[in-house]
Order: sequence, then structure tokens, then C-alpha cells
Amino acid sequence: MPRVAGKVAIVTGGAMGIGQACAELLAAEGAAVVVTDRETEAGKKVADAITAAGHRAMFVEHDVGDEDAWKKVIAAALKAYGKVDILVNNAGVGWFGDVEHTSLDDWRKLLRINLDGVFLGIKYAIPAMRTAGGGSIINMSSIEGLVGDPRIAAYNASKGGVRLLSKSAALYCARERTGIRVNSVHPGYIVTPMVERGIESSDNPAEMRKTLEALHPVGHMGKPMDIAYGVLYLASDESEFATGSELVIDGGYTAQ
Ligand SMILES: NC(=O)c1ccc[n+]([C@@H]2O[C@H](COP(=O)([O-])OP(=O)(O)OC[C@H]3O[C@@H](n4cnc5c(N)ncnc54)[C@H](O)[C@@H]3O)[C@@H](O)[C@H]2O)c1
Repeated sequence: MPRVAGKVAIVTGGAMGIGQACAELLAAEGAAVVVTDRETEAGKKVADAITAAGHRAMFVEHDVGDEDAWKKVIAAALKAYGKVDILVNNAGVGWFGDVEHTSLDDWRKLLRINLDGVFLGIKYAIPAMRTAGGGSIINMSSIEGLVGDPRIAAYNASKGGVRLLSKSAALYCARERTGIRVNSVHPGYIVTPMVERGIESSDNPAEMRKTLEALHPVGHMGKPMDIAYGVLYLASDESEFATGSELVIDGGYTAQ
């Protein structure tokens, strides 16, 4: 029996990286998946490939920091598939900047996507999921939402914010008996376009790759499917007692 058979999932930032893996795995395990992203061509390709593999998916163009766009995404999911059971708030951006040298403009740009985007997703998913009798909201935080890094002040702030926003929303949904669960996921470094861009833009990419690998006690970075399997667990009814929790998948990074 597929693990999310008959469920409807929205995956933001599903055009590549971790979001793409989540969309593909949820679809393969029986969910109809609404892939959203601001990258239209890449997002359509992911949805088309899922459909070509015999599963259900559609693409909706989406900027997660835009409130009206969220209303359209939820409406599109309801129109196409009749309900929303799973929301993976995965879309995110990251760039270097310590607290002293980050401009207010760059701070706001990052927070708009990584934190406002997650807030809006939760806000608009709750009414849709309540109607369906419950659901699972999975918010992509990071190891950087658990421990600090002096080079990424805004990113740290956004991912720490996602961690506690998830708990606040989980408690609200539990208290209101909505049947909706909210959890956060905390990946270590995962080889995706985001991380590849960071490596390639460094002064010595080969050295940078080795440095990042060495940060993980297991000796290597993760792959998108390592995270997608955790998301699948939280999306499925197997995790029905899990809410307000933090799923750390980081090769031991934060165990040290
Ligand atoms: N890769 C890692 O090492 C790592 C580690 C911890 C957490 N994360 C988090 O996982 C998530 C996915 O990261 P990734 O590595 O796959 O990144 P990625 O850059 O490879 O993919 C991110 C996707 O999000 C989309 N996106 C960006 N801004 C958007 C917006 N405003 N609206 C809609 N879509 C938008 C991008 O177009 C892209 O398709 C992010 O939230 C990231 O912070 C990544």
C-alpha cells in the first residue's frame, strides 16, 4: 500500500533540489502533488516527469512571499484535486552575510522568502486542511535553525524562526483540535543546486567541497532523497502522533 495513497500534497520550491525529491517521492507513494516554484520551466518539467511516470502532479507558478499567490495555489489545489492534506513549505534561499555587513534590504529579501513564505503557507493551509478533517504541514528549517554560524545571520534567523513558528502553529492546531500536525525538518548540507552554487562561487571549490563534507561526522554531504524520506514519514499517517517536533537529518552535524 503506498504510504500517502489518496492524499493531496503541495510542495513549494519543487522545481529542483530537496523540493523536487519530495514531490517525486510523495507522488510515487500515492499523493497527487501540486509542485510550486517561481522557476516555471523547471517546475513544469518536474510535474510533467511525475505525470509521465504514471503519477498525479501539476505545476503552479508561485512566489511564496506573495500573499495573493498563496490564495491562488490553495484554490488551484482544491479545484484540481478537491482537498489539501500535506503542505511541504520547502522553498528557500540562502546567501552569505554576517550580522554586521548584511544590509537591511538583503535581510528583508531573505526573510520574505524563508520566513514570511512559511508563515503564509501555514496560514492559508490551515482553513483548507480543517475542511478536510486534518493534515500535515512540514516546514523546511535547517541545521542552521538549531546552531549558529557567524557567516549567515539572516539565514540563521530565518531557519530559527521556522523552527519555533512550527511549534507555535503545532500547538495552535492541537488546541483547536484541527487534526492538523506541524513539524520542522533540519537537514545538514545536502547536494542541491543551492549548495553547488555556494561551492562553485567560492575561491577554491574543491577545497570548499572537502570542508563541507568534513563538517559531517559521517564524512559526506547528504542527497535530496535523504530528506524526502523524512518528509514522507511526516506526511504519512505513520507520524499521526508527531507534532511540534524537529526531525534532524544531518549526518551527525549537530550531534557534536
Ligand atoms: N541544500 C542544503 O544543504 C539545505 C540544508 C538545510 C536546509 N535547506 C533548505 O531546504 C530548502 C530547499 O533547499 P535546496 O537546497 O533544495 O535549494 P535549491 O536552491 O536547490 O532549490 C530551492 C527551490 O526553491 C525555489 N524558490 C526560491 N525562492 C522561491 C520563492 N520566493 N517562491 C517559490 N519558490 C522559490 C527555487 O526556484 C528552487 O527551485 C530551502 O528552504 C533550504 O533553505 C537546504
